[in-house]
Amino acid sequence: MEYMDSGLRYTPKKEAEWETTEGFLPTYDNKQFEKKKGPGKAGAVIGIVIFAAVVALMAGLLVWHFHFRKDIRVKRMYTGSLKITNQVFEDAYENSSSPEFKALAKQVTDELKDVYSKMPSLAKYYVGSTVQAFSEGSVIAYYLSEFNVPAGQEAAVDSAMTKINQQIASSQRSSLNKPGNSLLLDDVVYSAIDARMLSTSFEQFLKYSEHARGNFIGTIESPGFPNTPYPPNTFIQWQLRADPGYLVKLKFDTMNLEENCKHDFVKIYDSLVTIESRVLEELCGYYSPSEPMTFLSSGNVMLVTMATNEIHNYPGFRAHVSQVKRGSKETTCGGQLSGVKGSFTSPNFPNYYPPDTLCQWTITVPEGKVVKVTFNTFLLGEPGQENSKTCKKDYVDINGKKVCGEQPRNTVTQTTTNNKMTITFYSDKSYVDRGFDAEYEAIDRKDPCPNQFHCKNDKCIKSELRCDGWNDCGDYSDETQCNCKAEYISCKNGLCKPPFWKCDGIDDCGDGTDELNCGGCPTGHFTCNNKKCISAKLHCDGRDDCGDNTDEVKCNRGTGVTCTETTYKCKNNKCISKVNPECDGEQDCDDGSDEENCDCGQSAFKTTRIVGGENATPGEFPWQVSLQVKKYGHLCGASIISSRWLVTAAHCVQDNSKDRFSKPETWEAYLGLHEQGKDNGVKRNLKQIIPHPYYNDYTYDNDIALMELQSPVTFTDYIKPICLPSPQHVFPAAGFVWISGWGATREGGLATKTLQKAKVRLINQDTCNTLMKGQLTSRMMCAGVLEGGVDACQGDSGGPLSFPEGPRMFLAGVVSWGEGCARRNKPGIYSKVTQFRAWIEEKTGV
Ligand SMILES: *[C@@H]1O[C@H](CO)[C@@H](O)[C@H](O)[C@H]1NC(C)=O
Repeated sequence: MEYMDSGLRYTPKKEAEWETTEGFLPTYDNKQFEKKKGPGKAGAVIGIVIFAAVVALMAGLLVWHFHFRKDIRVKRMYTGSLKITNQVFEDAYENSSSPEFKALAKQVTDELKDVYSKMPSLAKYYVGSTVQAFSEGSVIAYYLSEFNVPAGQEAAVDSAMTKINQQIASSQRSSLNKPGNSLLLDDVVYSAIDARMLSTSFEQFLKYSEHARGNFIGTIESPGFPNTPYPPNTFIQWQLRADPGYLVKLKFDTMNLEENCKHDFVKIYDSLVTIESRVLEELCGYYSPSEPMTFLSSGNVMLVTMATNEIHNYPGFRAHVSQVKRGSKETTCGGQLSGVKGSFTSPNFPNYYPPDTLCQWTITVPEGKVVKVTFNTFLLGEPGQENSKTCKKDYVDINGKKVCGEQPRNTVTQTTTNNKMTITFYSDKSYVDRGFDAEYEAIDRKDPCPNQFHCKNDKCIKSELRCDGWNDCGDYSDETQCNCKAEYISCKNGLCKPPFWKCDGIDDCGDGTDELNCGGCPTGHFTCNNKKCISAKLHCDGRDDCGDNTDEVKCNRGTGVTCTETTYKCKNNKCISKVNPECDGEQDCDDGSDEENCDCGQSAFKTTRIVGGENATPGEFPWQVSLQVKKYGHLCGASIISSRWLVTAAHCVQDNSKDRFSKPETWEAYLGLHEQGKDNGVKRNLKQIIPHPYYNDYTYDNDIALMELQSPVTFTDYIKPICLPSPQHVFPAAGFVWISGWGATREGGLATKTLQKAKVRLINQDTCNTLMKGQLTSRMMCAGVLEGGVDACQGDSGGPLSFPEGPRMFLAGVVSWGEGCARRNKPGIYSKVTQFRAWIEEKTGV
């Protein structure tokens, strides 16, 4: 029975290894093969002939057997649960050694044997079943059934298993004639075991159990946590129980596993065995400890499993196990809501809602008004249901309209025609998510958006956002029937678009108007002979992207192409033609120098989805630095490029009549800071400041400076360098970039406490130069806000313009002037880091 074990053994602490229980195969009765009376003399010759024939036949059979019938039988295991409705749970059922457990387990296995024996396609392959555990409700039995199936017949057995509920129902009917003590079974669930858990490479099976009683909080953690990495090739399970009438609450304070769930994973079940239809969540990767994950069970049990392989073992996880009373506030939802406004959330929000939950809110607002509800966060994701329109799994029903999956913030909104609204929340038995928080308000039906624009989808937006080129409503209703402002692009289809998006290779109008008359392809693009523009990355990628193959001629993919301005130069001075080869995970230079120093530009954590809007999550931009001056506080941003060096803007370090900003003593650099004013960063003094020698105070040309830290900093999950691009690195127009900061501009003023971020898009250099009336130099680049109704400052002078490329980010620019803080109608101007790459290396060695 490999790792599964027959019967739950009560183990308050670790149990060394899975006890292999004996197989189910019956032992043969050797007596029937015992030699009977010997043959007579006369039979001897015949005997020899027959013996020879038999030997020949057996040899033939053996050859046939081993050549053509290898591994003819496959072990098929199903794990499942069933409800026993006519029994009451007793404490003794928790102890698999107790006589009570054994007696009930025997009854259940007899029952299962009886059920399988009546199903011909299962009966012949059935080996046996074991009961692994019982839990409350009335009594739930967790079982494991084993079949020995001829290869190729697995699907037939799977399909026969689907009829097991019917079979049980019919045998229950016939059991009415059976003796009075027989079990009444219901709700039979089973599943084939996750193939990864049957892996033969497991060398170690561990099992723990934990019973949360009273107010006791137990802890479970992966072996070796936190001092040594978890063991390889190990399968572990933790069976968690609460008292009857309570739910299990599991709170992870650390989750740090390998990124690839195929290799190492933790799975949480709303069950005591690994029934796949009762999975609550599968986890791998590294989650930010600043947003712990909490799960609730539907009954009084939960199972946590962990599987690891031999490669890449990480610190692991630690979680706290406690119990919450069924029906207490955090486990329930729904009710009567009234008043002119209010809010409500899914149970346990912003943590994972429990499975198998149904609740309803009735909202009543004053007579004569109507109800408007808006969901801020909406996370009801289930694997395989991401784009489901039918909402067969978890959903929210708003006055008869079902919504499910993951929805962007503030996009789910609904208004009634009277003063009542009914909202239902349903979660099925598998997979849970963080849920939702929603607000409702009473509005005037005749004037639903006082002094604002009323979108078709009932959203209200500021009047000035109408016809400004941004889809503020979310359904474009604010951008139709517009007379475009003079400088705007008037699309043929009637939309207006901000002038930034002209000629960047992206069809923003939707009808191509903004990409007409662009005179060749924009920077970062390759012009095909047939005039098509393709991304420069597609040039020489081995595929015909132009359609006339002009992007694949004259491609010299090896090293040793002639070095030009656009080729990448390896350390050995040989050049390669690949675009952006550095740190892309492939070795392109003979000497491997394109993949050196690539421990940069990556956030340690998986992105958590609950922090919304413009707030960054802690550790999302670990290269972000806050530059502070004692008497003013935060003034500028900077980026970490090594353990000693920062990059910032030259204009941040210019003296004025009052302050000596060019002096290292003036500044304090805060690394790893998330919230201003909180003691959560690492402080460093500066050793020297090197502004660019050609910085021009008037034009802001060469607005870049280097800062050396007094002492090197140790990298952590919150302090990491960003990748520096090579001088030839291509940041194509229309590429997405992040700006981040606390909102300090040249004009001063600290805008926010929490680190902000904004997604912007690079603007075509020619377009931007036109917009900026020729003030742009080749050492500057422009980016503009792409979306969002905000008009706040998210960037800091001197802060990073982080360009995502694959899993890492490159420092494309340094916030310089214009509206670096991302105002929607003004582009921000950034110093182009590629232009200063050689200078940075000369001064810092980085
Ligand atoms: C489990 O039951 C066995 C048999 O009755 C008993 O010896 C043992 O002490 C019980 N274990 C616990 C932890 O109660």
